[in-house]
Amino acid sequence: MKVFAHRGASGDYPENTILAFDKALALDVYGIELDVHKSKDGHLVVIHDEDIQRTFKGKGLVMDYTLSELKKFNCRKFEFIENLNCKIPTLREVFELIKNTDIILNIEAKTDLIHYDLEQDVIDLIKEYNFEEKVLISSFNHKCIKIFKELNNNLKYGALYDHEKDYAPEANVVEHAKKLGVYSINISRDLVTKEIVDLAHENGLKVFVYTVNTPIIMRKMINYNVDGVFSDYPELMNEIIKEY
Ligand code: G3P
Ligand code: MG
Repeated sequence: MKVFAHRGASGDYPENTILAFDKALALDVYGIELDVHKSKDGHLVVIHDEDIQRTFKGKGLVMDYTLSELKKFNCRKFEFIENLNCKIPTLREVFELIKNTDIILNIEAKTDLIHYDLEQDVIDLIKEYNFEEKVLISSFNHKCIKIFKELNNNLKYGALYDHEKDYAPEANVVEHAKKLGVYSINISRDLVTKEIVDLAHENGLKVFVYTVNTPIIMRKMINYNVDGVFSDYPELMNEIIKEY
């Protein structure tokens, strides 16, 4: 069972920050998941929402700020406001952080609402760092995955699924993912079933489930024999895995 620290060790530290990623590295995790958007001046930046306001003390869209403007915003979590490792990071900064580790990075391209035209930039950065074997690229926007695959079909891709509409008109996620030609289905805990996991495995697809934060769901995912989970509490997940 592979454990990904979802948005870093985000249960205890501000999500998608260098601090949260650094804390995740200190845990026994297989990978780190993060979300990528693009700034006004073309930098790949790591933040979950299109809008900065939920996680940072500011207002407005990521795409309307330059990187140096984005860097000025302090994080919203009170005890971390002054922490310089709790600013909006670039993807490059995260690559620098993990380059001498064996951690896998799941780069989620957050192009569902705004299409940033970021695919080539992500691929260029991966190539620059020789991270081809170190990354899994995913997106809810399956058109974005198609673009990535057209640009580079040698990387690993994961198709994200949340609702039934995400795999329509196919009958199930496995059928959809096979047509898309991805490495994994990255599926929500509400949509996943034992049948889907078994069918995915029969079809050579990995199954990674988000977001797995409570012991009851953690045990369920172990019993489903999923390949990995994304958790805000990777330490707790590891503790539960050890029970088996
Ligand atoms: O990549 C798994 C998960 O992060 C997808 O949902 O909204 O947490 O980015 P979200
Ligand atoms: Mg994500």
